[in-house]
Amino acid sequence: MIKKIGVVGCGQMGSGIIQVAAGAGYQVLANEASEVFLDKGLAGIAKRLDKAIEKGKATAEEKAKIMGNIVRTNELEELADCDLVIEAIVEDINAKKEIFQALDKVCKAETILASNTSSIPIGDLGSVTKRRDRFVGLHFFNPVPVMKLVEVVRALDTSENTIQSVKQFAESLGKTTVAAKDTPGFIVNVLLIPYLLDAIRQYERGLASALDIDNAMKLGCGHPMGPLTLTDFIGLDTTLFIADIFFNEFKDDHYAAPPLLRRMVAAGYMGMKSGRGFFDYSKK
Ligand code: 3HC
Repeated sequence: MIKKIGVVGCGQMGSGIIQVAAGAGYQVLANEASEVFLDKGLAGIAKRLDKAIEKGKATAEEKAKIMGNIVRTNELEELADCDLVIEAIVEDINAKKEIFQALDKVCKAETILASNTSSIPIGDLGSVTKRRDRFVGLHFFNPVPVMKLVEVVRALDTSENTIQSVKQFAESLGKTTVAAKDTPGFIVNVLLIPYLLDAIRQYERGLASALDIDNAMKLGCGHPMGPLTLTDFIGLDTTLFIADIFFNEFKDDHYAAPPLLRRMVAAGYMGMKSGRGFFDYSKK
């Protein structure tokens, strides 16, 4: 039975996972090596809850309860008695392996280890632990408090018990789960990223303006964001990183990053987080 959760990484994804787990009543240990990132992540949660209070969608008591369910930690050792630890750090395979090696040593035998990776094989990460049956992919979507989906990714050695436990956990957060095999991009990204790359290619070829491409897909297909805004939202660097992983794995032109995307990343245009991507966010 999963009761106590650890989340390693308090960035955009990690802080979203912490918020929804604490909101569902779990005790959540929020782990970050750096105090600065921990402060920033937790301040983001408090700010989002304040906005919900302003809109009349939450109360000050609910906010206090959620924040009270969150415990700050800087040491992985403090996650030892968690039932589930979810890693949500940067997409760096070596950094992730280092975290999992350390967690495998300090956590109790029953602890399930999960990665929120969007593109790194779960089996590769689990291979550095001695608990491959209790190692699983748990892929949330941004913004975590809003997006209803969690992909549950089964690696070769993941046990059925582990799958069922994390599925129940994700559903207890109000999410719907889908089961995916451990192949790059699971279900969503393997379909989404080629669509984003195609939109960038069409823009690069001069099919239409960025605004018209986005309006076409928003208003013509009912998508909440057009593909270029969505690339800005995900991050151009992240989109490029995932595309390169797919291309290396599948050796298929369908996944080849358009030169424009590579040039924009090299020039520092990362999307909303840098203030500039296909659109300009510097004045917002
Ligand atoms: N964190 C928490 N909540 C947020 C939020 C955030 N960053 N941004 C918006 N919200 C909430 C708002 O508070 C609001 O909540 P309410 O309805 O309870 O008041 C609700 O979302 C709607 O927000 P807004 O009215 O401000 O704005 P929009 O209606 O334009 O919605 C959006 C914003 C939810 C981000 C919407 O544009 C959307 O769904 N976009 C597509 C997002 C998407 O596709 N995400 C998946 C990306 S792929 C991914 O994550 C995988 C990775 O591996 C690459």
